[in-house]
Amino acid sequence: MADSEGNTDAKTYGIGVPIPNPVYALKGSNSLEWGMKDRLSRVFDRKSGNTVMLAFDHGYIMGPTSGLERIDITILPIVEYADCLMCTRGVLRAAIPPIYNKPISLRVSAGSTVLTELNDEVIGVDVEDAIRLNASLMAVMVSVGGKYEALTVSNLCQAVSEGTRFGIPTLGVTAVGKELTRDARYLSMASRVCAENGAHVVKTYFCEEGFETVTATCPVPIVIAGGKKVPEKDALTIAWKAIDQGAFGVDMGRNVFQADDPTAMIQAVRAVVHDRETPDKAFQLYRDLKAH
Ligand code: 5RP
Repeated sequence: MADSEGNTDAKTYGIGVPIPNPVYALKGSNSLEWGMKDRLSRVFDRKSGNTVMLAFDHGYIMGPTSGLERIDITILPIVEYADCLMCTRGVLRAAIPPIYNKPISLRVSAGSTVLTELNDEVIGVDVEDAIRLNASLMAVMVSVGGKYEALTVSNLCQAVSEGTRFGIPTLGVTAVGKELTRDARYLSMASRVCAENGAHVVKTYFCEEGFETVTATCPVPIVIAGGKKVPEKDALTIAWKAIDQGAFGVDMGRNVFQADDPTAMIQAVRAVVHDRETPDKAFQLYRDLKAH
């Protein structure tokens, strides 16, 4: 308890020195409440402004995805290199010891699997459990242009409203059905719909043509999914182009945990996302790390 006697007189008044009132620099986030900003600041690196999120929530629609059969063997050794972990509450509680102190992007939408019809989802995790798990983001799949468009947009709105009550930001994840083309026109539309409905961060795909229009027309940060496994250098090139064209990072899964050497790969991705290393240099780093 503070003593009431013997205190030195206060003298640091700073008369005439304006109190700083810094702008919160993350795109579109300056008007958010303190708790939201604090959580976003755990996800996005203070120096680079970007993030390397490690996605391993695939099992919620795909079951034991290749590379995710044993979370303890493939994911735990690389957790230390991730800025944020994107997973389901089931895997988080069962397989990730609560000792890493990494921000969590918690998958809160749930529903149909690859065995039936994708994207028929509800909000499967309530905000109380997200708080219990100390989530920094709640991730919701949104199927713009798909059969379950209205349902999934409504899921997003629900997560945004509940999260706003407790200061937890929402990640809108744009789904791409087989019938939809992953071009800039579609991805801009899907990302913007997520942002308009309150998503604080949007996860979408990179496209070769016009990706800068996807990031330009989205008022909040975009992170890209890696998509299906491609050669390591190609994945690093995708990450580099996405950052160069306005993305704030990656939320990458298969191209990390299905790489020949996931530990080397996530460090190479970090070099691109945080240090803006070229794909050539990052791939050389990957090879060097893999060799040791
Ligand atoms: C599933 C997801 C995955 O997290 C996402 O696809 C990222 O993983 P990958 O890099 O393997 O595509 O959102 O809906």
